[in-house]
Amino acid sequence: MDKIDISTSISNIKLSSCIMNASGALCSTEIELLNLLKSSSGAIITKSCTNILRKGNLEPRYFEWKLGSINSMGLPNLGIDFYLYFLENIEFKKPFFLSISGLSTEENLLLVEKSNAFSNIDALELNFSCPNINTNKKILGYNFNEISNLLEKIFEFNKKPVGIKLPPYFNDDHFNKISNILNKFPISFVTCINSIPNGIFIDINKESTVIRPNNGFGGIGGKIIKPFALSNVNKFYSLLRKDISIIGCGGITSGKDIFEHILCGATAVQVGTQFIKEGIKIFDRLKNELVSFIKNKDYSSINNFKGNLKKVK
Ligand code: SIN
Repeated sequence: MDKIDISTSISNIKLSSCIMNASGALCSTEIELLNLLKSSSGAIITKSCTNILRKGNLEPRYFEWKLGSINSMGLPNLGIDFYLYFLENIEFKKPFFLSISGLSTEENLLLVEKSNAFSNIDALELNFSCPNINTNKKILGYNFNEISNLLEKIFEFNKKPVGIKLPPYFNDDHFNKISNILNKFPISFVTCINSIPNGIFIDINKESTVIRPNNGFGGIGGKIIKPFALSNVNKFYSLLRKDISIIGCGGITSGKDIFEHILCGATAVQVGTQFIKEGIKIFDRLKNELVSFIKNKDYSSINNFKGNLKKVK
């Protein structure tokens, strides 16, 4: 078999590789975004932005260990205008996804409206799942009425492909409720999952938490969350309309992990914790590993096995 095809499409947006960064991982500053542009990632997504620049939470706010990471970043970002104008004078282009995370309905509407005026932005990922912003101590992704109302308002005027970054869900009632809502709107994709909220990691020598904000509680990502990421990808693959793509995110450290996400139904994948650990060269490594894995399985394209997870009878 000659060429293994790992390209993919999300709502008519073509990605030369199905592997991209996760929002939040090394994608906040100009240098980080330029590095991503030059890399072999199939697309780029920005750090979730707000209308005005935010410094985020006090440090230390990110910690990683062998099996994962914990963060309470507090949405540090340069403000939406920086991300909207970033591509203006840049020739080389790959699909550019803007992640937005307004702190209120009004701010979310403003961010969507602003980005609709920029043709360089290929798609929006609405972050409904930041675990670290404690306005009302709520994660939007768990508030089904509010999501429905917000989407209603957004789709009154929005013209861009829109995806939603979801928090992890753990029971069928929630999977069904959120899927019923999302299926009513012209959504292009969902990204699942964001970090698992309210984890704690302990430095046993100091007998202490490892991050400072929110009394040490934060979102857990990395290797350790893969089973939950896979279950969410697979649940949504069976519950959402077939034209809604799923971007798998969570626990990817190897080509085999990507294969598993695609087998569960993912159209593309995002890499967060391991990208932060390993840096920009990760995209070449993962691409090579995925191609070898697919070749060894005698497939020629990710579409040969996407969503074909067998269930034990
Ligand atoms: C943060 O900036 O606190 C993390 C954002 C997220 O996980 O959505």
